[in-house]
Amino acid sequence: MSKAINSLRAVSIIGTGAYLPEKTVTNRDLEKIVDTNDEWIYSRTGMRERRIARDDQATSDLAAEAAKVALADAGISADEVDLLIVATLSPDMFFPSTACFVQDKIGAKNAYCYDLGAACSGSLYALETAKNQIACGAVNTALIIGAEKMSTFIDWKDRNTCVLFGDGAGAIVLRATGAKRGVMKGSFGSDGSLANLLWTPGGGSRNPMTHEMIDRNEQYLKMEGREVYKHAVTQMTKSALDVLEKNGLCAADIKLFIPHQANARIIDAIGKRLDVQDRMFLNVEKYANTSAAALPIAIDEAAKSGQLASGDLMLLVAFGGGFTWGANIVEWTK
Ligand code: UT7
Repeated sequence: MSKAINSLRAVSIIGTGAYLPEKTVTNRDLEKIVDTNDEWIYSRTGMRERRIARDDQATSDLAAEAAKVALADAGISADEVDLLIVATLSPDMFFPSTACFVQDKIGAKNAYCYDLGAACSGSLYALETAKNQIACGAVNTALIIGAEKMSTFIDWKDRNTCVLFGDGAGAIVLRATGAKRGVMKGSFGSDGSLANLLWTPGGGSRNPMTHEMIDRNEQYLKMEGREVYKHAVTQMTKSALDVLEKNGLCAADIKLFIPHQANARIIDAIGKRLDVQDRMFLNVEKYANTSAAALPIAIDEAAKSGQLASGDLMLLVAFGGGFTWGANIVEWTK
């Protein structure tokens, strides 16, 4: 057993990219659509604005743009990608996978492709999945993308949810390198008994697409915000502590904590519990909650704004529908 573990290859992030649609919708713009106001949204969530994709853009279009930036950043061509995973809860269609559409758009003709469904935790699950496949030698180069066109799956008449989400995509290129640690041991969990607190109840095999279902607005995302909030704080704090312990590290070893960007108050509460408020990455103000896209967008921004230097450790932590959650620590090697 220990021999097998020793033969695993260290896996590094060799490129990152993001794409945010041009159109910005501010809290003030939302005041014209639903009964809300900038003060409520900003004080409850830390959000000021979000990006909304054009009608002619599907999730795979956002994903492909982020992927091209990440491949250029890695200095590799699309045909070097062996594995392409798209984490999304807003796919182009039920099937084929959004990953297959992205493959075609970017020309990753040697990749095998699939989508991964873990809601807002999806990119972290994709990171873990790709890391393990590279570590054991099944593939050499992976492209993972978190991409969402949330604006098509939210009810623009429901102020409880429509103010909270935005569209966007982030991408990460992974490869085995001579790094000492790379993507380290992760900590993951799920609890399907709480699925109904955050879900899109209609449109699938349980509750098919009928006129009656659409009249009930069940094709849109529904959330029990207060309950989700409590679980998100508790579980992301636990996951962060667990992943530190698994890797024999403490919070002081981490240069930057990058949490899922759902709410500035959630991020602040986790920062306080871990006593790392000065090292919590935050960009929810600009993009709101972009679900699976939030983590890779944040990693790309952190890297390109000079917040990570080679050898730094970042701790990624996420929580989302399912419920799903997880954390990982990554040695930045670029
Ligand atoms: O990405 C996956 C994970 N998602 C999350 O982690 C989101 C977790 N939840 C949250 O971020 C917060 O719970 C929310 C931002 C959704 C809500 O904040 P809150 O402080 O928990 O507010 P609340 O649910 O306690 O709502 C308070 C009031 C309600 O009115 P009443 O019933 O007290 O009269 C809502 O109807 O605020 C009302 N409200 C609004 N008012 C103005 C809800 N949405 C709005 C709105 N504008 N947009």
